[in-house]
Amino acid sequence: MSVIIAPSVLSADFLNLGRDVEMINNSAAGWFHVDVMDGRFVPNISFGMPIIKAIKKQASKPLDVHLMIVEPERYFEDFKNAGADILSIHYEASTHLHRSLQAIKALGMKAGIAINPHTPVSLLADVINDTDVVCMMSVNPGFGGQSFIPNTLNKIKALKQMIVEKGATTLIEIDGGVTLDNAGSILAAGADVLVAGNTVFSSSDPTATIAALRALGK
Ligand code: DX5
Ligand code: ZN
Repeated sequence: MSVIIAPSVLSADFLNLGRDVEMINNSAAGWFHVDVMDGRFVPNISFGMPIIKAIKKQASKPLDVHLMIVEPERYFEDFKNAGADILSIHYEASTHLHRSLQAIKALGMKAGIAINPHTPVSLLADVINDTDVVCMMSVNPGFGGQSFIPNTLNKIKALKQMIVEKGATTLIEIDGGVTLDNAGSILAAGADVLVAGNTVFSSSDPTATIAALRALGK
């Protein structure tokens, strides 16, 4: 399987959001990565339903919505209605994770678990077969443009081994600090999906940067 590139809309130019959505539509990207932050689970506040609905109107690829919010289960239906195709909730924010995964899938979305850098992958053993995507944070969540935490490579390998051993079909998504320099080793460790915010949107040619990231996975 070739790698899925998921540009992070958090780093887009919000004054030209339509232009940036169109750029992603016409690029080698596979998904839109959409970061929702509540100022409680993470220190930062990003955006909510109106922006997601606007993106959905124009996006020709799935919306991969990453919830960095407390009590995410309160909003599953709202995010479905806003246009989420994949909905990831944080392990650290979920008391009844198994139930929540089922609830997300019952609404017709793919279900993802996001884990912070301090959360060991071994904690996912009993839910991995119920999980479509693990969004592994390779920075502390809350902000774009941070540096990749090198220990993530060990975590990717451990998670890949678990997925194979359990016969799961879960995708491994890496979120935070992905660059053209480190993407090769992230993919070699076993990642399937690369989120890229700063690397894409601060480059002089975002479309070419997305293509270059994707080419590393072929
Ligand atoms: C961080 C977000 C990321 C962020 C990645 O909390 O979850 O998705 O947008 O941005 P970069 O690629 O710039 O680290
Ligand atoms: Zn994210």
